[in-house]
Amino acid sequence: MKENSLVNKIVSKIKTGLKGEVTIPPDKSISHRAIMFSSLAKGRSVINNFLKGADCLSTMGLFKSLGVEINYLSDSILEVISNGVLTKPKTDLDCGNSGTTMRLCSGILAGQNFNSVLYGDESLSKRPMKRVIAPLELMGAKIKSNDFRSPLKIVGTELHGITYNSPIASAQVKSCVLLAGLNALGKTTVIEPYMSRNHSELMLKYMGANILTEGTTTTVLKSELQPKEITVAGDISSAAYFIVAALIIPDSHIILKNVGLNPTRTGIVDVVKRMGGQIENLDKRIVSGEDVGDIRIKYSNLKGCNISGADIPKLIDELPIIALMATQAEGKTIISDAEDLRKKESDRITTITNGLKALGADIEEKPDGFIIQGKTSFKGGVELETYHDHRLAMTYYIAGLVSEKDIMINGFEWVSVSYPNFESDFEGIK
Ligand code: S3P
Repeated sequence: MKENSLVNKIVSKIKTGLKGEVTIPPDKSISHRAIMFSSLAKGRSVINNFLKGADCLSTMGLFKSLGVEINYLSDSILEVISNGVLTKPKTDLDCGNSGTTMRLCSGILAGQNFNSVLYGDESLSKRPMKRVIAPLELMGAKIKSNDFRSPLKIVGTELHGITYNSPIASAQVKSCVLLAGLNALGKTTVIEPYMSRNHSELMLKYMGANILTEGTTTTVLKSELQPKEITVAGDISSAAYFIVAALIIPDSHIILKNVGLNPTRTGIVDVVKRMGGQIENLDKRIVSGEDVGDIRIKYSNLKGCNISGADIPKLIDELPIIALMATQAEGKTIISDAEDLRKKESDRITTITNGLKALGADIEEKPDGFIIQGKTSFKGGVELETYHDHRLAMTYYIAGLVSEKDIMINGFEWVSVSYPNFESDFEGIK
């Protein structure tokens, strides 16, 4: 299927190695949470290094519609001024392409004393919402949906705490339930099959919530949040494209600065090490409760590996670019237990299999992942679709750099969802 795209990008083979430094842009997950949680805190919060990607701007727009004052102090610094109480929006709330906005905000809005409607774009309207509707209903929420797809019509009501055994390791589900629990009667506990990203837990604790995590169980009590100064770490999911590019383009040697290294997000670093890649932490510091550091990456001879189970939530958004990396590694890579990848901005198991196959890769689609046999050279000379999916756009850009003939990426504008300066940052190390 051909999409209506605004930007058709031609990418050519790169002739030299990547050299230099890149400061990694702010983390998308943390930027969303910084706006949301500051909006719930009474007083003035300041957010440094906020990501001005389309998804986070959707979250900002939502909270402005809910009566919160949000101002830019500079290009990347925001102040959020709230009286700690959200007000009934005058219009339906547009989540754009952002699943995080819709799923986390459904938890915030379900317990308010007003009604609201959450809707999104074509891609978001196809994504499953039962995963948040089901636990919220157990807490007493009243939500009407389009057969568990958005728009979500939320009738605000008083919620009560539950113990929820989540069938999936999803930070969006966990955060939705914990945020509902912040404003519910009694105690709310979420238990996950594997640990998913814990940015909500860290930031809620930093802002004074009564929250405790033990292993994969997190409990929250009704709490008021304190306004804070929050500095957003760099996004390892954005760093992933540079990491893989440097590993697979001969003669590369780069340094990535200010990368978020929260252990619930560093699955790609673990996998690169397992594949024999040269990746090194240069330092580690803590910024607003999150691990941050600089990393060095050099071109490497990679070998295939297995990726499954508890690995998956720690690298779920990196699987498209990891699949590309595996095509450039000697031997077999098996990625399994990743069925949730079908529920992202596109069905990433099918879209990535088809895209990499068109380039010349030996990749087999499985219900829950891929089997990839490397190393294959990409012949290129093809047009690839992005299907409203920013991570496909960036993965194909890297593929183009190692393809014999030029490739065309249709719908390259989707990079702006998480990384508006992706191409110019890349140009800086070419
Ligand atoms: C996110 C969690 C992940 C991830 C998404 C952002 C978050 O989704 O894929 O891009 O900010 O909580 P799931 O938790 O549903 O796996």
